[in-house]
Amino acid sequence: MKAVVVYESLWGNTAAIAQAIAEGIGADTKALSTAEATGAEIEGADLIVAGAPLLGFALPTEGMRKSVDSNPREKKPTMSVPTMRSWLASLPKGSGRGATFETRIWWSPGSAANAIARELNDAGYSTPPKGEKFLVTGRYGPLKDGEIERAKEWGAMLGRSLGV
Ligand SMILES: Cc1cc2nc3c(=O)[nH]c(=O)nc-3n(C[C@H](O)[C@H](O)[C@H](O)COP(=O)(O)O)c2cc1C
Repeated sequence: MKAVVVYESLWGNTAAIAQAIAEGIGADTKALSTAEATGAEIEGADLIVAGAPLLGFALPTEGMRKSVDSNPREKKPTMSVPTMRSWLASLPKGSGRGATFETRIWWSPGSAANAIARELNDAGYSTPPKGEKFLVTGRYGPLKDGEIERAKEWGAMLGRSLGV
C-alpha cells in the first residue's frame, strides 16, 4: 500500500501535523508539500491524506494568501508553494482512498478539510466528508499541547483501517 500525506502550510503548523500523521501511518509514508507532491510521488497512491490551514473561515485562496502576505501587520507566510486548491485542481484522477485534516483555532466556523474532501472525492479518491481538526492556540500557532501526539495516533488509525 502506498500512502502520501500532502499539505499546504503558511507558518508551519500544518506541516508539523502532516509529518506526525505520516509517522503514524508508518510504512515509509512521506509528508510532502503541495510543491513536492507531484508525478511519481502520488501516482498510484492507495491513500492520500491532505491538509491545510483554515484561513478566513475557508480553504486558503491565492487572493487571501496575497492579502496576508502584503499586510505589514501579519507575520510573513510561506508563499513559495502552491495552494492546496491549485494542487487539487491539477491532481490526476486516481482510485484510492482519501482522508483530510486542517489546523485551526477551536471556535472558528468554516472548514478547510471538508472542502478538500469534496475535491479528493471528485478526483476519484473515496474520502469521508468530514476531516480531522488539529488546534492552534494563537493566530500563527503554536499547536495546542498534545496535538502532535494526537496526529500520530490518527495517522496510525488510518494506516490500520486501510491496511497500509
Ligand atoms: C490571516 C489569518 C486568518 C486566519 N483565519 C482563521 C479562521 O478563519 N479560522 C481559524 O480557525 N483559524 C484561522 N487562522 C489561524 C490558522 O488557521 C492557524 O494558525 C493555522 O494553524 C495556520 O497553519 P499553518 O501554520 O500551517 O499555515 C487564521 C490565521 C491568520 C494569520
